[in-house]
Amino acid sequence: MTGGPGPSTPAAAAARATATTTTATAAGATAAAGRDGRGLVDTPPMGFNNWNSTHCRAEFNEEMVRGIADLFVEKGLKEAGYEYVNLDDCWALPERDTNGKLAPDPKRFPHGIKALADYVHAKGLKLGIYTSAGTKTCSDIGFPGALGHEESDARQFADWGVDYLKYDNCNNQGVDAKKRYRAMRDALTATGRPIVYSICEWGENKPWEWAADVGQLWRTTGDISDNWSSMLSIMKKNLPLAPYAGPGHWNDPDMLEVGNGGMTATEYRTHFSMWSMMAAPLLIGSDLRKATPETLDILGNREVIALDQDRLGKQGTVLASEDGRWTVVKELAGGDRAVALFNETGAPQRISTTAKAVGLPAAEGYRMRDLWQHRDAHTAGTIAATVPAHGTALFRVSADDGWAHYPPAVEAGWAGTPLAEAGRPTELTTTVGNLGRTPARDVRAALRVPEGWRVEATSPSRAAALATGKRLTTSWRLTPPADAEPGGYDLRLTATYRAPGGARTTAEATGTAQVVVAPPGGASYASDLPWMDATNGWGPVEKDTSVGESAAGDGRPLTLGGRAYAKGLGTHAASAVTFYAGERCTAFSAQVGVDDEAGERGSVGFEVWADGRRVAGTGTLTGGDAPQAVTADIGGARTVRLVVTDAGDGVDHDHADWADAAFSC
Ligand code: GLA
Repeated sequence: MTGGPGPSTPAAAAARATATTTTATAAGATAAAGRDGRGLVDTPPMGFNNWNSTHCRAEFNEEMVRGIADLFVEKGLKEAGYEYVNLDDCWALPERDTNGKLAPDPKRFPHGIKALADYVHAKGLKLGIYTSAGTKTCSDIGFPGALGHEESDARQFADWGVDYLKYDNCNNQGVDAKKRYRAMRDALTATGRPIVYSICEWGENKPWEWAADVGQLWRTTGDISDNWSSMLSIMKKNLPLAPYAGPGHWNDPDMLEVGNGGMTATEYRTHFSMWSMMAAPLLIGSDLRKATPETLDILGNREVIALDQDRLGKQGTVLASEDGRWTVVKELAGGDRAVALFNETGAPQRISTTAKAVGLPAAEGYRMRDLWQHRDAHTAGTIAATVPAHGTALFRVSADDGWAHYPPAVEAGWAGTPLAEAGRPTELTTTVGNLGRTPARDVRAALRVPEGWRVEATSPSRAAALATGKRLTTSWRLTPPADAEPGGYDLRLTATYRAPGGARTTAEATGTAQVVVAPPGGASYASDLPWMDATNGWGPVEKDTSVGESAAGDGRPLTLGGRAYAKGLGTHAASAVTFYAGERCTAFSAQVGVDDEAGERGSVGFEVWADGRRVAGTGTLTGGDAPQAVTADIGGARTVRLVVTDAGDGVDHDHADWADAAFSC
């Protein structure tokens, strides 16, 4: 794990010490727990829960749970702070026994829950369990819920040695949430055993307003799933709830998906960074027995964990959010600030803030530690990075008298994604900037392109020295080979420089160039041209059919106002489909509306954007409205983006057709 031994600088040692101290505090506090939440999970709980990786499948069994406990110890995750090994739904038999007691499923747990708790406890770990504040749990099979059985079920959990209860919300019979969740709190208290109480009512009754003296954490949203848009939407709902979190009472944006395969490593690092910034519970949701080194690297990053587990217990807050560039700041014990620069967009973006803006006192220099690269630098005050698409740059910034020991921070990167036609040159401008107080000397920028590409700098790529705040801007001409296939190609910018002490240091940035295909001259249907990228609210964008909502090709004939169209795009709000026009086209036209299959339902807005300028659009169109003709002047545009909005009322039934969509080039 990169967060393990790490580089042997004093800074790294200090960071390690912080992480270890925090973990020790958490463990000690839990032992001395009281039911009111004070002392119980003074820092957010960390551990594992099987749900995201197994749901109710047979692989959820005692062998798996023991295997996870073993790996917590073997892989250093216990050392890193992971403590709770939690069972989710489907551990029980569907019926209570003749005494009204819960019975574990003997196929999954042949030795019972007590034996499992003993096994987990022998490793210095804790065991969690699950049930619902309803008559049955959430799974379709429907296992017994605890509504009306609170005391006996809580007693049973305590007798088994359970340390954590996740209490779900299904089949609640319409009984008031406060009443249901308080009844279980009282039942847990009556057992006398410290049991972490995790309220899982999905934020439906604003638990952040009333549950601080009921449980130690509460879900703030519906279930996460293993994809970018789910993670992002949950993050956006949880961020504004920062004022409600604190030691012993945490917002819970649901469990981690890191390692489950539905997101890229960059996106998983963002997920883990932002959950730590939000002081969220860190419950691993992937089967660690199959984890790659990269997954373990992310989950085991102690410097990031130290932000989550910081004893001040403040949830990070949004300092700025503009056009998908987010700056989130978390105040830490001792005065440091954690700063996350998060790029929501699909292309690299420069994101910047200052030491002053994040709340640090005035100083000549600050130590700025990159928590993913595990590297120290100093800044004169600017905290900035060019962040890759969907990525997060994560820093710990301190007003540290020793700042001059570290090299000046140098940022390197470029904004956007260069587009190139096969065999034809395109331009890219990179910048290398000195954020430090001391000069960066002998600065050299180099751009690595894929095999077969040509690259040349058309302006200087070296500078003898860059003073504070100064930048080296370099223009490059890139040419993909004539036979390059359309798609994304990796680029890497490497900037090297010497710090005042003389040591050579490197700053790097990665991104992609996209090989695109120019549209042919004359009129072409949009559905006959390749698009550069497409996002859609439900299912994939369809060519020549309406949207089907799940797999590609599952739509029906495009139909607007009773007329069927042979050509066009079937989309679902919120949607954006981007085409390369290559400055060769003059006009775009289409008949647009909500497909007849939605009946009177659905409401959307259509927009056409040329190079970031809105050049045509409709008002709100609903299922009952007649189709509208859209024509747009796209003269000279390199890219054209077809956007469908949800018209502000959510995306239900928003089947939006671009019928007869065509470009004139
Ligand atoms: C609900 C919860 C999930 C999971 C399932 C189990 O959906 O929100 O986290 O526990 O139930 O059935």
